[in-house]
Amino acid sequence: MDRGIVAVTGGASGIGLAIAKAAAAEGWQVAVADRDRQAIAAARELLPEATRFAELDVTEEAAVEGWIAELAAAGRLAGLVTAAGIAADIPVLDTTVEQFRHILDVNVTGTFLCARAAARRMKDTGGGSIVTIASVSGLRGAKGRAAYGASKAAVINLTQVLAVDLARWSIRANALCPGPIETPLVARVHTPATRAHWIAHVPQRRYARPDEVAGAALFLLDPEQSSFVTGVALPVDGGFAGAGLTALDS
Ligand SMILES: NC(=O)c1ccc[n+]([C@@H]2O[C@H](COP(=O)([O-])OP(=O)(O)OC[C@H]3O[C@@H](n4cnc5c(N)ncnc54)[C@H](O)[C@@H]3O)[C@@H](O)[C@H]2O)c1
Repeated sequence: MDRGIVAVTGGASGIGLAIAKAAAAEGWQVAVADRDRQAIAAARELLPEATRFAELDVTEEAAVEGWIAELAAAGRLAGLVTAAGIAADIPVLDTTVEQFRHILDVNVTGTFLCARAAARRMKDTGGGSIVTIASVSGLRGAKGRAAYGASKAAVINLTQVLAVDLARWSIRANALCPGPIETPLVARVHTPATRAHWIAHVPQRRYARPDEVAGAALFLLDPEQSSFVTGVALPVDGGFAGAGLTALDS
């Protein structure tokens, strides 16, 4: 089944790569954008030959516009997944304004630019589905996440606004809020102490694999499965966001 094109930012690594793989297996024509050339080269080996790749930075408006225009010329752009993102674990008192601005630029402005460019095309081709990748750190205040948490809370609200503004053109927008997922980003940011903390607070007592996020993304992309679902922030987090006191392990 040809579902049209799904554009995946940050699709050369981690959660974006897992979603790109799963989408290709479900009949989507997948287009990956990432700023990391080496990661793109590695991803070429893992994704089907027909996958389109673009090396770009999601904070660069002209590059994003050019990429989306190219995809729209190649076929029907029906899906967008914005997984490009960066993280840092820095106490608020040590967070510089440069760090704060940089994280907001990539995570929020980058998401905005890609969503706006894609929606401008989807609006004229019968609609589509935008899936942003936020985080449980955008739902709760997490230690050391002043910039990251603020950026992800902004992504959730931006997604809700996209859902409202774009509904008239049959464009849906939903956010996924992953908990701890084993990816290269987490390998860089999570210390052993951070890992122990997460595991103590996640009812399932574990990190997830990136492919465990992909199913939720495919559900939100597929109009046959989620046509009336828009403006939602869906945790994929082993129970973290819903938990109060957690059970003692026996
Ligand atoms: N791993 C987790 O536990 C977790 C939890 C919640 C949310 N998230 C979010 O999921 C998304 C993917 O994270 P991941 O863990 O797979 O990380 P990752 O580092 O494995 O993958 C992110 C990809 O985004 C790309 N990227 C970063 N900045 C970019 C830019 N400016 N332009 C283009 N590409 C850019 C990177 O090159 C990388 O390939 C991020 O938004 C992250 O905040 C991750």
